[in-house]
Amino acid sequence: MSVITPTSTDLAYQQCINPSCRATFAVSQTCFACPKCGDLLDVVYDWDRLPVPSRLSEFESKWSDRLNPLNFSGVWRFRDLLPFAPPDAVVTVGEGQTLLQTADKVGQYVGLAPGGLKLQYEGMNPSGSFKDNGMTAAFTHARMVGARRVACASTGNTSAALAVYCSATDFGFKAIIFIGSGKIAYGKLAQALDHGALTIQIVGDFDDAMQRVRQVADRLNIYLMNSVNPFRLEGQKTIMFRVLEGLAWEPPDWIVVPGGNLGNSSAFGKAFIELKHLGLIDRVPRLAVINAAGASTLEHLVGHGLTWNSGLPDAELTESYYQKLDAEHLKASTIASAIEINRPVNLKKCLRALDFCNGVVRQVSDQEIMDAKARVGSGGLGCEPASAASVAGAKRLREEGIIAPSDRVVCILTGHQLKDPTATVAYHGTDQENFEKILGSRGVRRAGFANRPVVVPNDLDDIIRTIALYSDAPTADAAKM
Ligand code: F0G
Repeated sequence: MSVITPTSTDLAYQQCINPSCRATFAVSQTCFACPKCGDLLDVVYDWDRLPVPSRLSEFESKWSDRLNPLNFSGVWRFRDLLPFAPPDAVVTVGEGQTLLQTADKVGQYVGLAPGGLKLQYEGMNPSGSFKDNGMTAAFTHARMVGARRVACASTGNTSAALAVYCSATDFGFKAIIFIGSGKIAYGKLAQALDHGALTIQIVGDFDDAMQRVRQVADRLNIYLMNSVNPFRLEGQKTIMFRVLEGLAWEPPDWIVVPGGNLGNSSAFGKAFIELKHLGLIDRVPRLAVINAAGASTLEHLVGHGLTWNSGLPDAELTESYYQKLDAEHLKASTIASAIEINRPVNLKKCLRALDFCNGVVRQVSDQEIMDAKARVGSGGLGCEPASAASVAGAKRLREEGIIAPSDRVVCILTGHQLKDPTATVAYHGTDQENFEKILGSRGVRRAGFANRPVVVPNDLDDIIRTIALYSDAPTADAAKM
C-alpha cells in the first residue's frame, strides 16, 4: 500500500495509537489499520491552528440556522470539534436529533435520587441507533477519498445504518454487509433488506464476519465502515457533545454505555480527552462500560489487570484469553445480540478511555438486561436489549456503592425498542414455549416486569369487567393477578 504522509499545512491527519510507532498519514489515506505496525489509527488535529470556540455554549448559535443541513445535523453542528472534512464533502441524512430525557421511574429502579438519571436516547436517529453518528462521518470520508463500494460486518445496527446512508444519498455508494447466520434481530435485518444492501450471510458469528469483511475489503479495495475506521469514531464523539448540551454544558458524574466492539466507549473517551485539552470542560465524567455476561471480554481482561499502560497494554494477556476462547470453542452468546462480540476491535482505545475517565467495567446477565429493558420501556422510551445493559450496569454499580444515590448518571440508550421485537414479545407474552426458546434457553428465569396481554372473550360484558378489574392496578402488577 502506498503511504500518503501529511504535509505541514494539514490541520487534520491520521496517527497510529501505538506509542512505539506513532506513524502519521494524511486524511486522504484509506487504511483501517496502521500500514506500518497494524495497530489502530486516530484522527488527530492541530488544535493550535484550528478555530475552536472558547466555550461550548457557542455551539448554541447553530440552532437558529437549521435550514443549513450542517447545522441541522446533531453531528455536524459540532464540526469544529471534528474538523477533518470540508463542509461541501459532508454526507448527512439529518442524524443526531436525539434527546436527553430525565427518567425518574427508571432512576428509582436504578436507585438514584429524582433527577439523577438521564437517558440519552439514540434510537431517534434515522436508522434507529447511535450508529448514524459514526456513519455520517465515515461516509463523508468515503466521499472525500472517492470510495463507492462500502462494507461492514454487523450484529445488525451498523449494517442498517450503512444501508440507510447508501440508499438515502446520491453519491453512488453501494452497500455490502456481512452478518452471522441467525445472529441479527429481525428489525435490523429488515432494514438491510428493505434499503437494498447486498446482504451476505455467513455461517458463523459477528467475530467471524468481522474477520472476513476485513479480508474482503483488503482484497477488493472496498471501503470499510466498521468502527476500526477512525472517522466513524469522530462522529460518535458528538453523542457526548449532545449529552453535555442537554445538561447545559455541565458534565455529569457518570456516563454508562454498553460495550460490544467498543467503538462508542472509545469515541467518548476521545471526546473527553479533546474537550479537556481544549479547556472546554474542567471536569471529566467517569465512564462505565457494560458487557453482557455472555460476551464479556473487556470485563474479563480488565478484571485480570489489563490497562492502557500508556499505550502499551499487555498483549500477552489478551492473546492468551483469545486462545482460551478458541481452544474451548467459546462463542459469544447473549440475548443482547447487538453486543454479542468476543473480539472487540477497539479494545485498546477503550482501555485509553477507561484510563482517562477513571472508568469501570461490569458484566450483567441476560436476566438483568431484560428486566432493565422492561423498566426502561415502562418508564417512557423503549430500547433494545443491548441498550438496557447500560441501565442494568448502572443499577449494579449503584448496588455496589460505586455510583452514589446522589450522582448524576447518563445511560446511553443505543438502539430503538423496535429493533428487536422478538426479545420483547418473548418477555412480556404469555406463550411459555416462546419464552423458553428465546429467553429461558439463555438462563432468563422470570419475566418479573412482564406486562402480559390479557386474553378476553369477544364479549362486551367480559371486556368491561376485565377493564374494571385491571384499570386500578399498575400494569406490571395487574399482569400478575
Ligand atoms: N448497542 C447497540 C444497540 C449496538 O448495536 C452496538 C453495536 C452496541 C451497543 C455496542 O457498541 O460496538 O461501540 O461497543 N453494534 C455493532 C453492530 C457491533 O454491528 O451493529 P460498540
